[in-house]
Amino acid sequence: MPLPTRSFTRLINSTVRPNHLVGLQSKCYSSTQATDLKEVLRDLIPKEQKRVAAFKSQHKDVPIGQVTVDMIYGGMRGIKGLVYETSVLDANEGIRFRGKTITECQAELPKAKGGDEPLPEGLFWLLATSQVPTQQQVDWVTKEWNNRADIPQHVVTMLNNFPAQLHPMSQFSAAITVLNLGSKFARAYSDNVPKSKYWEYVYEDSMDLIAKLPTIASIIYRNLYRDGSAIGAIDSKKDWSWNFATMLGYDNKQFVELLRLYLTIHSDHEGGNVSAHTSHLVGSALSDPYLSVAAAMNGLAGPLHGLANQEVLIWITKLVEKIGETPSDEQIKQYVHETLKTSVVPGFGHAVLRKTDPRYTCQRDFALKHLPNDNMFKIVSQLYKVVPQLLGELGKVKNPWPNVDAHSGVLLQHYGMKEMNFYTVLFGVSRALGVLSQMIWSRALGFPLERPKSMSTDGLMALVAATGDKQKSKAA
Ligand SMILES: CC(C)(COP(=O)(O)OP(=O)(O)OC[C@H]1O[C@@H](n2cnc3c(N)ncnc32)[C@H](O)[C@@H]1OP(=O)(O)O)[C@@H](O)C(=O)NCCC(=O)NCCS
Repeated sequence: MPLPTRSFTRLINSTVRPNHLVGLQSKCYSSTQATDLKEVLRDLIPKEQKRVAAFKSQHKDVPIGQVTVDMIYGGMRGIKGLVYETSVLDANEGIRFRGKTITECQAELPKAKGGDEPLPEGLFWLLATSQVPTQQQVDWVTKEWNNRADIPQHVVTMLNNFPAQLHPMSQFSAAITVLNLGSKFARAYSDNVPKSKYWEYVYEDSMDLIAKLPTIASIIYRNLYRDGSAIGAIDSKKDWSWNFATMLGYDNKQFVELLRLYLTIHSDHEGGNVSAHTSHLVGSALSDPYLSVAAAMNGLAGPLHGLANQEVLIWITKLVEKIGETPSDEQIKQYVHETLKTSVVPGFGHAVLRKTDPRYTCQRDFALKHLPNDNMFKIVSQLYKVVPQLLGELGKVKNPWPNVDAHSGVLLQHYGMKEMNFYTVLFGVSRALGVLSQMIWSRALGFPLERPKSMSTDGLMALVAATGDKQKSKAA
């Protein structure tokens, strides 16, 4: 199989316009114009270390919330228990990447020549530095990723020998795990590198891994759905998404644009979701970034998390098979009622969001612009009209509105990617941007091993009884 050709990347320290400053963190710091991301981080990290250390020492005993029995049994919803810098989710307005909404990112992040959607390279820069990158900075990231995209032959051999029945997510996660043979962090750790340098090796592994993910994903795709055809070579002049689309076998410009948008919006959703939290937890054991991201991918593969985008399209396809391509609202209602007898409606609801997911909205805008007459899109629009009311009527669903997964599959299938089992792999490639940019900061800020206290039901009952006794004696 021909593997990508590489050229030497020069680090360009050109004069560029000043960065916009966004987010809490960068408000305190002047921006740097360097195009080498590691240099920019080297400049930012000591300042942020100082700011966090001062905050911790001044306010370490300030209580920030209450934990109830309901929260403990309820999947820890609402417990503030993690520091996660790269993005924050507001229940009503949705995700902000370093303070920027999706709409702002679409407007402000650099684009490819002739493109309208943000480049994921720019989003990664924003997540990692809290600064909107210049075109030159984004070009630098593209070159770095293009140069690091090769994967070792033993990983190719392993992928080529997986049984076709093995889910693409299992293949993806296994390949990421095996890549840890090349982990610079793991090597540095065993060489006793000082703690203050951990972030540098996590940065190197992160850049390597992000660069390699499209290569791995494309080999899986070609093996499973394109008779094992070769993925071809990376074009060093093209961006990450363009190369990814090409390796997958797609040359439609709109599909490339969709991929740029897709890989941007699926990247991060604050720290408590299953994939982000998993990578945070595993990384806290100083497992290297490959092991941490592989663990995250296993969480993303769950039907209540990333797999929902596959489930949505399966569900809509069955709808079409059952009632045709142009169902009435009434027929759709009936189909939803049938679904609710046995399962959840995929693509609707969210653990934190309480309104329509802006990641859904921007994909809807993309569809309205590029494929307004697509039948499946029309059904997705009808579902938007019909489902929230039906879920609301159940009286228990906290958020009846659509989430990101309700839309993505329909866009992908429009451009010919009909292999639903593969969709979560695309999600995973994107999610790596978020969790790895955070991992660099987790090590830079010296976050310790994560180890929350668990309780048995008996222990919890005893604690509640003792608390009740205390309250009674206070009241008396
Ligand atoms: C995302 C999800 C797992 C969040 O779960 P959650 O935080 O427990 O959600 P809620 O607090 O609103 O759940 C309360 C009840 O409503 C139900 N509910 C939530 N979303 C539902 C949906 N889309 N369809 C049917 N029932 C739903 C829950 O199953 C739960 O029922 P139960 O008490 O009988 O177990 C849930 O909304 C869901 O399963 N959605 C469908 C899968 C999906 O789209 N996942 C991708 C998320 S980005």
